[in-house]
Amino acid sequence: MPTLPHDIWLHIAQFLPVLVLRDLISLNSTFFEIAMDCRYRQMSFAYLDKRMLRALTRLKDPAVAKRVRILHVYPGFLKDALERDKTEPVLRRSLKYRLADLGNHLLEQRLFPKHAKSRLMHTLKRTEDVVQIMLEVLSGLPNVTDYYVTWCGLPSISATAVPFLSTVFQSKLRKLSLELSLENVRNLLTPSFQVQNLEELQLTIHSENIESTWERNCIMTKYLAPAISRLNATLHTLTIQSWEAADLSPMFRSITHLPALEQLVVAIPVEPNHLGDPQGLSEFLIAHRTSLRTLRLRATQYGGAGMTPDLASFDNWIRDAIHNVSLPKLRTLDISSNLFPVATSVACLAHFSSTVTSLSLTGSYRTYEDIEKAVNIVSGPIRDEPLVKLRVGLVSLSPQLIDMISMKLPRLDSLELVVRYILPHAGDRPAFHPDAPNEGQLTSQIDDFLSKMRERNYAHWQLRHMSVLADSLPFRPQYEAIMEQTFLQCIPSMRTFR
Ligand SMILES: *[C@@H]1O[C@H](CO)[C@@H](O)[C@H](O)[C@H]1NC(C)=O
Ligand SMILES: *[C@@H]1O[C@H](CO)[C@@H](O)[C@H](O)[C@H]1NC(C)=O
Ligand SMILES: *[C@@H]1O[C@H](CO)[C@@H](O)[C@H](O)[C@H]1NC(C)=O
Ligand SMILES: *[C@@H]1O[C@H](CO)[C@@H](O)[C@H](O)[C@H]1NC(C)=O
Repeated sequence: MPTLPHDIWLHIAQFLPVLVLRDLISLNSTFFEIAMDCRYRQMSFAYLDKRMLRALTRLKDPAVAKRVRILHVYPGFLKDALERDKTEPVLRRSLKYRLADLGNHLLEQRLFPKHAKSRLMHTLKRTEDVVQIMLEVLSGLPNVTDYYVTWCGLPSISATAVPFLSTVFQSKLRKLSLELSLENVRNLLTPSFQVQNLEELQLTIHSENIESTWERNCIMTKYLAPAISRLNATLHTLTIQSWEAADLSPMFRSITHLPALEQLVVAIPVEPNHLGDPQGLSEFLIAHRTSLRTLRLRATQYGGAGMTPDLASFDNWIRDAIHNVSLPKLRTLDISSNLFPVATSVACLAHFSSTVTSLSLTGSYRTYEDIEKAVNIVSGPIRDEPLVKLRVGLVSLSPQLIDMISMKLPRLDSLELVVRYILPHAGDRPAFHPDAPNEGQLTSQIDDFLSKMRERNYAHWQLRHMSVLADSLPFRPQYEAIMEQTFLQCIPSMRTFR
């Protein structure tokens, strides 16, 4: 076997099936390291079952613990334990004994599977025990870079559970994803919450359990916003998402200036009143106008009282939020999700277009005219830099669509199309087999499209990368090859096609 750098073996190992990895473990020490890194790279703790107990036991070994990079924790199991706590007296035992219990438990499960369940309950009947073991294990993971915590739908947590977040924080952590109920914020994001080098924070906020506006605002301004503000030295990507329509403007207003913030992702519920006062987001955008280079907007509908989207109200909300914002450094604008109205996305584009060099508009279906409108906005003559990257979907791919994009965006470098139909002419409608409409559109239309494309040549175009995603096409693998050939032929500058 060739001698390759460790990193490359690690990369290769990601594509190997688990059983092959297991065989590699016994091959030699190099492969042992690679296979073990792969196996423990990503760990997830959600349900108190045999697998989790085995993982906890294994991770007590520092030689194993150092391999964990990505960690997911959803302590749903605490719920049961908390219930039991109320009925039984506390008995303190050392960690060593509790781990021995776990070991016994696992052994027993193998030997006497019938008794396992009751034994498990006996071993871990106290919240404190579970929490203690978890905390011990989490605090011994030195190389975690990405930490995902879901903490909602849980009863208010006991004091022992508070260090759940802080204990894993080490200097290597770069990305933190928190899905939190607002009522847990006071316990989790205490004034001591700080992550030295955190670059990316993803927040999903649930506020359904707090009815008092005063209390909600108090949590946002006194705990949540200061916790985010404390990441000011290094935070460059911030994602804010609300599970339901809720006024987050007090939080937006209370976050202090984040000088390194380059990327903002905001998911806005389609149900009124969206994220509350739109001026909150507006002021946040204005405060970060000198550093923001990427803005990603989403429309969401996860939860909420009525679950009744109001797209007119959504449109107004967005327009209010952006109307007096200018972002002179903005390069990437990305609007996705099928709930985001096409007209609203075009309004956002028109507002921010002058500096944008990379544009992504996906989610809803867009007609030829919709795309032409968007392309017109970014192809005007009074631009400092041309648009070099475009991703649009869902579209009907036609020769006229390619003609139009190539003509209006001659300096485009990369084009990605998420395709629903393929048509020989932009004015055509997709045709289906009358007896089997579910089998996708008629292949004769695709054949016609390809033969029309073969007659074309885009010699003036600078396009180097193109990708056509067409999941719903019939006979995909076959057509993908033919499509690649066709596009490579008619666009001479093309380097890669996917
Ligand atoms: C294990 O095998 C690989 C491939 O033959 C080789 O590159 C590596 O040096 C070996 N490692 C040890 C410790 O022998
Ligand atoms: C992981 O952590 C251990 C122990 O702190 C350290 O020696 C090792 O260099 C780390 N590995 C990486 C790749 O950071
Ligand atoms: C971050 O905020 C603290 C407290 O307000 C301040 O002292 C510090 O200078 C800020 N750091 C940066 C890089 O802005
Ligand atoms: C933006 O508009 C709002 C009202 O529409 C106004 O209160 C605010 O001062 C404006 N901000 C700037 C920077 O113009």
